[in-house]
Amino acid sequence: MDKSLPVVISLGGSLVIPNGGIDTQFLKDFNLFIRQKIARGWRFFIVVGGGATARHYIDSTREIVGQISDWDLDFLGIHTTQLNAHMIRTIFRDVAHPRVIMNYQKKIVNLQEPLVIAAGWKPGCSTDYDAMLLVRDYGAKALINMSNIDSVYDKDPKKYPEAKPFKKMAWKDFEEMNKGKWSPGFSSPFDPVATKLAKESGCSVYVIGKDLVNLGNLLDGKDFKGTLISSE
Ligand code: UTP
Repeated sequence: MDKSLPVVISLGGSLVIPNGGIDTQFLKDFNLFIRQKIARGWRFFIVVGGGATARHYIDSTREIVGQISDWDLDFLGIHTTQLNAHMIRTIFRDVAHPRVIMNYQKKIVNLQEPLVIAAGWKPGCSTDYDAMLLVRDYGAKALINMSNIDSVYDKDPKKYPEAKPFKKMAWKDFEEMNKGKWSPGFSSPFDPVATKLAKESGCSVYVIGKDLVNLGNLLDGKDFKGTLISSE
């Protein structure tokens, strides 16, 4: 990958807060990894998801209230992404831009820091969409989507052990496979609203898991485990 351009990482909340608490070991490793890359001249935008915290708040509120709008539930999710993003910003406080991006209409001018942390913004999408907005607004070439899903598969690998991962696929095929209406807490390798923007803008998205050696290989242009979704 070209390190003269910033790299946008959509850091799935499932990696920060899997069910059962903060994954401190993953965050320690991620901290070292990103710092090493920054020392070698890379620049990153990292958009942080809500993880199990988002699902817990959304599910409990839905259960208690019964009739509740998606708008209200999405706002709960957004607040959890902001909490997680603040934790990541605090971990990188000496190298990151001092403000977490939470309003994507306010573009940072004269960005000096090699790292910017971002969170959720408006209801109706996931942080995958917010990451796409950063690609568009800050001239990044590609987006890396890290989550607990290490590739796009031809069927759900949790239900079908024989499911096959794709190395590459076109947006139109991905969109066809992942048709789904947005709902709060929606889970897919890349959300449908973000997919639409990526398809329209011709952006490439790499869907990879949590393995940081693998992330390093991808950045260095080596073979990696994951799926490249692009216009071709
Ligand atoms: P995410 O869906 O981005 O976090 O946000 P996640 O599920 O942890 O990420 P993955 O699946 O591991 O990649 C959590 C919830 O916050 C709300 C949505 O309800 C979403 O499901 N949200 C987030 C918004 O409504 N708007 C945003 O811009 C971001």
